[in-house]
Order: sequence, then structure tokens, then C-alpha cells
Amino acid sequence: MKVCVVGASGKLGKYMVQHCLELGYEVVGVCREKSVGKLDEFKDKMTIIPGPTNDRELIKQAVAGCDAVLTVLVPWGVQQYSSGTAQAVMDFAKPGARLIFSCGWHITRDGQDVYSNSFKLMVSIFGKIGRFFRAVELDDQVEACRRIFKSDTKWTVVRGSDLEEGESQGLPVWSQHIGDPILKSNKTRRIDFALFMVDSLVKDNLIQEAPAIVGCQTPSALEHSS
Ligand SMILES: NC(=O)c1ccc[n+]([C@@H]2O[C@H](COP(=O)([O-])OP(=O)(O)OC[C@H]3O[C@@H](n4cnc5c(N)ncnc54)[C@H](OP(=O)(O)O)[C@@H]3O)[C@@H](O)[C@H]2O)c1
Repeated sequence: MKVCVVGASGKLGKYMVQHCLELGYEVVGVCREKSVGKLDEFKDKMTIIPGPTNDRELIKQAVAGCDAVLTVLVPWGVQQYSSGTAQAVMDFAKPGARLIFSCGWHITRDGQDVYSNSFKLMVSIFGKIGRFFRAVELDDQVEACRRIFKSDTKWTVVRGSDLEEGESQGLPVWSQHIGDPILKSNKTRRIDFALFMVDSLVKDNLIQEAPAIVGCQTPSALEHSS
């Protein structure tokens, strides 16, 4: 399988590259020019295409011939970075390619998610501060996902909980809605978020789903996993 990782140099991206290479996949990575050095440990085992991930021509070149695309949706800057990236991936990936996108729990597909007041406050404050400093545009990640949810491509939007570093604990568990008891612990190892993204490539039951994930060893997962 030939897989493109968009946002390959970030923490999540590097874990995804690592998992893909371990599975023997051919990997093409897109990252900002100034971040190419962050992929030094993999540079002999993958193709790196430097540039902004919302550059449509760059994405067209990167996803050519790929069976799947793993995209880190980041809302940085005020330049439609998330929606521009998502749109380019959907427009140029080959028909039938598996498209996996990452985002946070604040994304809702059907409005059935139930958020705590503290979570809503945190998203609101983070969004306002980010917008004020023109550093983060959370609404654009919402727009990116709105477009993905409408698309008839083979997409999966993986909604990550709060993240932590540490050794892998195994494949996270998931549920369709925030507020479901299994997700209560709200913690996933970043390496396992990446594992779930990569594992989704071969999970047909996740096509056109927006799983919300949590670490498989967290108390809520252990209590509610069947
Ligand atoms: N952090 C959390 O607690 C959390 C929680 C839930 C879900 N998520 C989701 O997880 C995914 C990755 O999150 P992460 O925290 O692990 O971050 P990450 O993997 O380190 O990703 C950050 C990405 O943003 C890029 N980036 C940084 N500054 C940028 C800028 N100014 N312009 C354009 N790109 C820029 C980085 O590229 P460079 O390598 O070039 O800097 C990197 O690819 C996202 O989809 C996020 O929504 C995160």
C-alpha cells in the first residue's frame, strides 16, 4: 500500500510515518520546508515533499498514485489551513482512496455529542485567544470537517481526546459520541492516536464514521469495553 502522510513532521505525523513503515507501506510525507529536518530518522525510507499542506498543487503531486492519505488537520494561522488541506486531499486523491483525517473532540458530526461545561469553556477560550492573535482558527477545522462529512469519498475523521506522550498501550477504543461513558477518561497516548489513524486504513466499518477515541487502558475504557 502506498500512503501519503500530510503533516508528517509533527508529533502525530511522525508516529504515523513510523507505524506505516513498520507495516511495510510505501510512505510519501508532506511537511513545511523548515520542518524537513524533523524527519531525518526516516529520510532514507520515505519520500518527503516539502511545502505548505494547503498548497493544492503540492498536495496533487503528493497524493498521486497513493492508495490512502493520512491527514493531520491543523488550524494554524488565519489562512484556511485546515479546510484548504482537506479540500485539496479530497479533490486530488485517487478515486476510492482511503482518507483519514485527525481532529479534536470539539468536532461534532450530527450534533449528538454531549460536552461538559468545562470543555465548552476551554474550546471557547482557546478559540478566542487563537483568533485574537491570528495564530489558530478553530472554526476552520470545523469547516474542514463539514466539507469532509458531505463528501462521498471513503473518509474517516478520527476525533482525538486530550493527548499524552508515553509508550504504546495498544489500539484505542472508540465511540460515536462524546459523552458516552467509555470516553470519560479523555486521555490517549499520542502514539496510539497515530496507531488508530493507521489502523483505520484497513477498517471498512470506519468508512464515513467520525470515531471519538480514548486510550484502551484508561479507567473508562477498562470499565466499559465489552
Ligand atoms: N494536542 C492535543 O491535545 C490534541 C487533542 C486532540 C486532538 N488533537 C489533534 O491531533 C492532531 C495533531 O495534534 P498534535 O498536538 O499532536 O500536534 P502535532 O502532531 O505536533 O501537529 C502539529 C502540526 O502542525 C504543524 N504546524 C505547526 N505550526 C504551524 C503553522 N504555523 N502553520 C502550519 N502548520 C503548522 C506542524 O508542522 P511542522 O512540523 O512543520 O511544525 C505539525 O504538522 C490535530 O489534528 C489536532 O486537532 C490534538
